[in-house]
Amino acid sequence: YLEQQNESHMEQYSGVNISNSMFPLPTNVCRVQQWDSEEPVPRAELLAGVAGTRGLLCLLSDRIDREVLDAAGPDLKVISTLSVGFDHLALDEIKKRGIRVGYTPDVLTDATAELTVALLLSACRRLPEAAEQVKSGGWTTWKPLWMCGYGLSDSTVGIIGLGRIVPLTRLAEESDFVVVTCALTPATQGMCNKDFFGRMKKTSVFVNTSRGAVVNQEDLYDALAHGRIAAAGLDVTTPEPLPTDHPLLSLKNCVILPHIGSATYATRSTMAVLAANNLLAGLRGEPMPHELKL
Ligand code: GLV
Ligand code: GLV
Repeated sequence: YLEQQNESHMEQYSGVNISNSMFPLPTNVCRVQQWDSEEPVPRAELLAGVAGTRGLLCLLSDRIDREVLDAAGPDLKVISTLSVGFDHLALDEIKKRGIRVGYTPDVLTDATAELTVALLLSACRRLPEAAEQVKSGGWTTWKPLWMCGYGLSDSTVGIIGLGRIVPLTRLAEESDFVVVTCALTPATQGMCNKDFFGRMKKTSVFVNTSRGAVVNQEDLYDALAHGRIAAAGLDVTTPEPLPTDHPLLSLKNCVILPHIGSATYATRSTMAVLAANNLLAGLRGEPMPHELKL
């Protein structure tokens, strides 16, 4: 990853000891203790390792709650997450303890927007289902209505997460495509539920690239299974990973991806550098490039 960083990012790190980590933390400025694996750090390991640290760099798969904060102790001054989302952080507790939080907005916007469009088109034009037909021998000839879906032309796309401009019920009723990009907060949890899907058009397509918990997944399953909406594309689910025997995976009209919204080499590399810069600025008591307002 590090080799793909652009020059301007590298300059901020002259004198950095680049290890095999994707996070370029300068070992001449701070002592770095690292879980050196792409697998999530085991909880016990995290609780033990965090004791006495001043800074913590975490992923969205690490739940940073009261237990972790207690295990860290009073020296912990800054948390830097490699994500734009922050629903895995116990913000009330963090704020109470005067800990600062850095995150990675903006730099993943394009990659996530691209993935959202790709997922939307995959769902409405039935790409995984159609590709499967080629492999299985289901493709026998060209047929006028075979593998038909819904196109984007002349459609209305409702995006939840551009601000609360449109009432949710009206957005559901008027959109041919509903795209969810908002943050998961107590206000958005379970927001897309039976009533919401019931208001959507039968020919409409639902796409979620924010957080799984914004959706009531059982209600979504019912809507898809009973044809109350046409299709769905999900990059996020509850839980993650989704068990391979989950009912949603049995539906032909549901395309599910493994939370890869920001997954381009360039974007993940830029996120890593930003997360490292946030952490260092926090440790030095300086303004962070991207600090969450608590
Ligand atoms: C991705 O889901 C992120 O929060 O960065
Ligand atoms: C499609 O390939 C067409 O010729 O209509």
